[in-house]
Order: sequence, then structure tokens, then C-alpha cells
Amino acid sequence: MRSVISIADLTNDEIEDIFALADSADKLRADKVGAGQIMATLFYEPSTRTRLSFESAMQRLGGSVISCSDMKSSSTAKGETVADTAKVVSSYADVLVVRHNWDGAVQAMAEHADVAVINAGDGGHEHPTQTLCDLYTLRKEKGDLKGLTVVVCGDLKNGRTIHSLVYALARFGANVVTLAANGMELPQYVIERLEREYDYGFAPVPTGDLNSVVTETDALYLTPKQPHQLALYTQVDKVIQSQLSSMATGLRYDAFYMTRKQKERMKDGGTNANYPSIGPEFLQEKRFQDTVVMHPLPRVDELSPELDKDRRGIYFKQAANGVPVRMALLEFLRRCNQGQQSGASKAQRAFRSPEPIGPRCHNANCITVKEPASTERRFRIYFADHIGALILGCDYCDHRFKIDYIGNVKTKRYSAFDNALSEMIRDWWDKNELALFDSIKEAEELGYEPTKSSGQRILMAEDEIENALSAISQQILNDCRDPDRLLILGVRSVGAQLAQRIANEIEAQRKRRPELGEIEIYGAGDELRRTGPADPDLGPLSLKDREVVLVDDVIYTGRTVKSALSIIFRSGRPQAVRLAVLVDRGHREVPVKPNYVGKNIPSSENDRVRVRLRGDDRETSDRVVIYSVMNPTASAQTTANSSREKATNH
Ligand code: CP
Repeated sequence: MRSVISIADLTNDEIEDIFALADSADKLRADKVGAGQIMATLFYEPSTRTRLSFESAMQRLGGSVISCSDMKSSSTAKGETVADTAKVVSSYADVLVVRHNWDGAVQAMAEHADVAVINAGDGGHEHPTQTLCDLYTLRKEKGDLKGLTVVVCGDLKNGRTIHSLVYALARFGANVVTLAANGMELPQYVIERLEREYDYGFAPVPTGDLNSVVTETDALYLTPKQPHQLALYTQVDKVIQSQLSSMATGLRYDAFYMTRKQKERMKDGGTNANYPSIGPEFLQEKRFQDTVVMHPLPRVDELSPELDKDRRGIYFKQAANGVPVRMALLEFLRRCNQGQQSGASKAQRAFRSPEPIGPRCHNANCITVKEPASTERRFRIYFADHIGALILGCDYCDHRFKIDYIGNVKTKRYSAFDNALSEMIRDWWDKNELALFDSIKEAEELGYEPTKSSGQRILMAEDEIENALSAISQQILNDCRDPDRLLILGVRSVGAQLAQRIANEIEAQRKRRPELGEIEIYGAGDELRRTGPADPDLGPLSLKDREVVLVDDVIYTGRTVKSALSIIFRSGRPQAVRLAVLVDRGHREVPVKPNYVGKNIPSSENDRVRVRLRGDDRETSDRVVIYSVMNPTASAQTTANSSREKATNH
């Protein structure tokens, strides 16, 4: 059964077919191709355009519509799950059109429905049919999507229309300039997908190029051929210089896609400070004379009504095209499901935990968290060799997070993930023996025992670590031009703990605490967050013109630092970024040179260096240890053999 949950569920050719059907909407209407069809609209969130244009589309096709005027007056109010609602309503209708406030909820409903399901917007995740309207309108205006440069602007973090749109623009070979409101940057999981699946790279856009829209925000240019990709660094201090030389200059902006701040997805409704807007001055700029202005609507005050009469304002055309495009989509799905055609799929094998305890999606708004009964714990596995991490992607909401512990269901052994174990993990996965855990506690609750590790050698003891952190803190203060603009930013998790210790030292020396933040390379949402001072009135962490010190525990290949720098420069343009690490292992694949180093410990690839810091309880002590990775299967075998030997000997 074909459903459309993500824009990835349609191939480019199928999107072209849908556009051809939309061009012949009058004929579809005259032929009444939808006669006898019933469409159910289930909208758990408010809507004007999507709901009414779908309902109009089905009626124009000759079909009919059933609906709940307000889902709060449906049995949802009595606690019915989305799974049961989908199952029941699919016996009353031939197609369900669903909008839900939870990410991934429409996917869950499609898994329980017996008829086609169309995603009319799920939380902050995707809104694929809006993207169809956007592409159809843009193509009519500009002729072709390939090579266009589209500026996506505003709340790129929570705007579901943006997520579907940037994937589609990338697939059709357009360039994307991201111009986010502060703290509302494109999520890391979206960026990664653009990089991994479409080979997109970044370059900054010159400051000033987009001043008539916003003055406080930096723009980044995403392009398929990577001519401008952020340069690698020989000195972190020279990052800005590298960036300047790789700037995307002379861009022609074909379209501005403006979005509303998605206040309904923000805990505190968000601040209004420096939210980008398009006003009359935009229309005066010569460089924008052929730039069309788009918006999924509804607008609030980010788009001046003065644009309504200008030929470049095409947002009401986008809304009007909702009817022919949705007529075309309904007819496309009817034909597919009549012929039972299979279509584009995410086509990646899913990991299902064989154990009752195991990883859960870290996105608090994911259906798997909100209503686990309607879902299964199902993930895609990514081996991110470049940063030595095992990443899970939630199959419902697409959010990514890092997994630290792996286990084998047969041997009941667990160990920390290490890149060297990737092949063995693939093998276990093939045999359905792979267990994954978020924590040691989870593994031990299931009776797993740790894999025996090789002997560990202490490389830095408590005193040496204290002295190193004190020296680093002093050097940071010496180099800092304006300590009031200093931001200590730790890479989660050990880097963030070290950053806190450095901030403590600086506070002791200056009698004033620097601002402290945390950066999560594989986070479920907020990649950058302030960890101190804890003042909700401060708004999102701003990097603009700051002197940032990025702190990590160990530098080896340099790829983690590169990923962290990429996030930093996507989130604002700091005055300087310096790098502090406790241990430098000295084998760089990426030419990043730390400015502050606690200790140089040259070590081979098979060696693992781990920084273990004391907890707040101070029961354990700080130490840096070195050990080599052991294959957990071999370890288990050794244990099994030695048990057998013991049994024989007895
Ligand atoms: N663009 C859009 O989804 O509008 P509605 O919320 O009114 O459906």
C-alpha cells in the first residue's frame, strides 16, 4: 500500500508525474476520476490551507470527505491511541489525510491503517504535500528547479515545511542558502542527510549580502558540487580566514522562502528578537529584482503585506496550487494502489532491539516517546567511521543519536562501542544477535557482563590533570582579547565536563564566571546549548563576535573537532575559535592544531586513550588511561573455554 509520509516516499520521476496530473486537473475534474472514493481528514492540529485544499481536491475529483471537526471531540479525548484510530477510520475511508503534533505520528498511523495515508504535517518533522505545492509553484515561475538558488529563512529548526523542502531542492539539484533566526538553525540530522545522501557542502554567504532581511544572522550556502565547502584548518584561529576565502560570492537569489516562527513547538513561545522579516526595502534592492518571495502561510509579521501586490510575491499562488497538486496526489495514489505498485522507500534495513530494554529515541516529541504502544523500537544504524561513532536514526522521526554500548544476545557480554568493532557488529546484526544500550545500567539490568578488557595503563593521574587544566585556563585568559566575550564550549560529554572545570578555574582567577556551553555532535535537537549561567531570560546561545574556546578530552583524527567547528560556524560567526584538549594523540587526519594541550601522548591506532573524570561524589579520581581494544567475541570465547576447563578440572 503506497502512502506519502515523507518527501522521500516519492521519486523525482513520480513528482514529475504528479505535476503533469496537476496540469490536467480540469480533466481529472471533468472525468470524475475519484467517484466513489472517500477521504477521511484527521487533523490533530489547526489548519486552513492543507485541510480545505485536500477536501476541495477530493470533492473536485468526484469523491467525498468524512472528517472530525475537532479531534478533541473524537475518541482521542478518551485516550484512544493513534494506532487504533488509524485502524478504525481506515475501514470507513479509502485514504486518510492526517496532521499530528507529534513527530512520526503519521508514520505510525500508516503502519496500522489498511488504506493509503498522507502526511499533512507531523510535528516539526515533515510536510511533504506542502513541498509538492512549493516545487510546482516555483517550477511554474522559474521553468526549472536545477541550478536555482533558494534562500530558506526563519525558523529552520521547527519548520516542517523547510525540512521536506530542502531535501527536495537538493534532489532536484537546486542550491540552498540557509538564513536562520538565532537558535533556530537547520537541525543537525537534516544537515547530515543533505551531506550524506546528496553530497551537499557548505560555504558562508558574505555578511551584508542579505542585510535587508536580517542583520544579526549569518547565512550559509549549501550546494551539491562542494566547490565552496568549508576549508580544512591548519590552525583553528585561521578558520575565519579560510572561510572568507571560500565564501559564496556573486550569488543570484532566485527565491526567498520565508517561514513563521513555530511558537507552538517552543516551550516558552520563543523570543521575538532579530527574527528575520521581508519588508518594502527588500523590494527596492536591485539584486532581488527577479527574486520571488514564497511562504507556506499562515504569516504573522515576518512578511509585509506590501509584497502582496508585487509580481514577486507568489505565496497566494502556492496556496491556490494546493488544490490541483493535491487532486494530482490523490489520483496518483489511487492509481498506484489499484495497481499495487511499490514505490520509493527509505530502503534501509531497520534495527529492532532483540532485548526488552534498549535504546529509545532522544526526541521528546517523537511518537515513540509520546505513545510507545503505537510504535516499535526501530532504528536505522549508521557507522560514522569519520568520528568513530555508532549512530542510530529513529525510523519514525529521523532524529539521530549516538550509542555508546553494544552487546551480544548469545554471549550476554557488552562493551563500549569502538570503531574497530564495526565489522563484528554488522555480523551480529545479520545474525540478529546485536543488542544496543544507552547505558551500562541497561545492559546490566538484563544480566549482561562487561567484556574483559586488556590491561589499562594510567597516563595522567589526578595531580597532572589538575595542573594541566589550571595551565590551560591561564593561557586562555592570557590570549583572550576581551574576557567578557569569552565562551567556553565543551564537546559532550567529557569535553563538556572539562569545559566546566576550566570555567571554574577562570572564575577563581577573574572572580567572574565565563559563559559556558555544550555542543552535541549527534544530538536529538539542540546541538548547542548554554549550560551556565542558568538564566532563561538570556535567550539562545549567541556565537556572534564571541571568543570561543572549544574543549574536548582527546584529539586523534581531528574529525570530531571538525564536526564541532562546522556546527559552530553554522550557528553564528564568532570573532575567534580556539581549541583546548587535555590529550593530543598526534595522528591528525584533519589538519586541526589545538591551541592548548594538557599532554601530548603519541599512541598507535589500536591504542585507545580514555579520560575518566571523577563524579560529583568524588568517590572516583581523575585519570587518563590507555588500553587496546579486544574483540568481545574472542573475550567471550576465552571466558567460555575457561569455564569449560574449570568444569572439566572439577
Ligand atoms: N501551509 C500550511 O500547512 O497551512 P495550514 O496550516 O493552514 O494548513
